[in-house]
Amino acid sequence: MSNNTVIQPSRKIPKTTKNLDNKALSKCVETLGLAKIQRHIFICADQTVPNCCSKQASLESWEYLKKRLKELKLDRPHESLPVCIFRTKANCLRVCCSGPIMVVYPDGVWYRQANPEVIERIVQEHSIGNRVVEEYAFLTHPLPETPLLACDRLIEA
Ligand code: FES
Repeated sequence: MSNNTVIQPSRKIPKTTKNLDNKALSKCVETLGLAKIQRHIFICADQTVPNCCSKQASLESWEYLKKRLKELKLDRPHESLPVCIFRTKANCLRVCCSGPIMVVYPDGVWYRQANPEVIERIVQEHSIGNRVVEEYAFLTHPLPETPLLACDRLIEA
């Protein structure tokens, strides 16, 4: 076990859009637990042009990630855990080497060689234990909050 970086979970309360009048969207927000997402994992899988790893290896990782989040009941919010982890299969995360490539937000931790064994560690140590799996992390870059001044300038442009 390495000296893993401890992540402080965000204390921000998610906001839902007030004027959500589309019933289908509203149902999706509810059934998928979109307003309860604690982390969002993107993985390069089922690529059009498989560069970082083979298509087969990427799909094995994707299936493993889905299976484990479901088995551990992390994929949907529930009474004993009112938050969830969302997962998305990205065609290519543009790193294109040492794959499968995976990134975990909001922590902004980029992982390499995310095979099922590594994914198990990421799920257990990062998602549950709030510690970066340093051996496989090649970048940690949480997205910065957009400065208000920059937003104003964009609106004026
Ligand atoms: S093919 Fe996996 S990151 Fe581009």
